[in-house]
This record gives sequence, C-alpha cells and structure tokens, in this order.
Amino acid sequence: MEKGTVRPFQFGTEIHQKAIELRLEILRKPLGLAFSDEFLEKEKNDWHVGYFDSKGDLLGCLILTPVEDQTQLKMRQVAVKKSVQGQGIGSDLVRFSELFAIEKGIQTIVLNARATAVSFYLQLGYNCEGEPFEEVGIPHRKMTKQLRS
Ligand SMILES: CC(C)(COP(=O)(O)OP(=O)(O)OC[C@H]1O[C@@H](n2cnc3c(N)ncnc32)[C@H](O)[C@@H]1OP(=O)(O)O)[C@@H](O)C(=O)NCCC(=O)NCCS
Repeated sequence: MEKGTVRPFQFGTEIHQKAIELRLEILRKPLGLAFSDEFLEKEKNDWHVGYFDSKGDLLGCLILTPVEDQTQLKMRQVAVKKSVQGQGIGSDLVRFSELFAIEKGIQTIVLNARATAVSFYLQLGYNCEGEPFEEVGIPHRKMTKQLRS
C-alpha cells in the first residue's frame, strides 16, 4: 500500500464526520453501541488526528484529550479501517501523536487499552499500570508512556 499522511483535523468538519463514522464501525458497532450527541460534544476541545491515503480518504484516526493540568494527554478512540489494519497505520498515528505532544510540552500519554490491543501499545513503548478493568463492557488496561523531549 502506498504510504499515506498523518495530520490533525478540526472538530465539526466533514473529515470529523468521516472519523465518527469510522469509529462507529470499528469501535462501537461490534459492541452493539452507538455515540450519544453528548459524548461527541465533549470532544470539541480535543485534538483529532487522521491518517489519509494519497486520495485524501481517511483510513485511521485517534483523539488526544488534555488531562492533569495540560501535562498529560489521553489517547483514545484509536481506530483503523478494517481492510487496512496490520499495515502500520495505527503505529504511524501513535508516533505522530507523540511528536505532536512533545511539541506542546506534554510529558506523558495515558490511555485505556482494550485487552486485545495491549500488545499493539506494548510494541510502541507503552507500559501497563494497575489491574485490568471493564469499560464499554470489555476488559481494558491502563497504559502510559513517558515522552522524552
Ligand atoms: C489496534 C489498531 C488501532 C492497530 O492499528 P494497526 O494499523 O492495525 O496496527 P499496526 O499495523 O500499526 O500494528 C503494529 C503492530 O501491532 C500488532 N497489532 C496490530 N493490531 C493488533 C491487535 N489488535 N492486537 C495485537 N496486536 C496488534 C501488529 O501485529 C503489528 O506488529 P508487527 O509490526 O510486528 O506485525 C487497529 O488494529 C484497530 O483499529 N483495531 C480495532 C480497534 C481497536 O482495538 N482500537 C484500539 C482501542 S484501545
């Protein structure tokens, strides 16, 4: 597959709508869940990052939410289109986000990983913290990475 590009995009745009559709397909529908308007409204002040192919189509996305007095970012809603999973897109999105965070003076990225994705984050240098817990009805682990600027 031809290499695509990773870049931030704005809340409330056509691309944001595409990202919501992708997240719905990849993260919510398999669990029998949808997004509430209230849930989506809360991501207004977050950073949104997308992976685009050479035609500009969105293949993957994630959200970065500032937490803890702006020293940490929570990475969430990481989703890659099913037909192109396992080709490095998720890794590119995470690595871009780490550089983006460092530029903003962020020291730590935190996330709640689905148990099925823990090995993906371990490969990218994230460490598990605490005990497994349940979120959206499935097991998760808290994971963190200290960034070096
Ligand atoms: C998890 C996800 C974001 C990873 O993105 P991706 O583009 O498929 O991953 P990459 O191709 O960058 O994978 C990097 C490595 O992680 C591994 N990996 C990818 N997805 C994995 C998964 N779900 N579980 C375990 N390992 C995984 C790959 O084998 C790859 O290792 P390799 O380079 O040695 O082969 C993507 O598969 C996805 O959207 N999955 C469904 C939704 C999900 O679980 N999101 C995360 C919620 S916390």
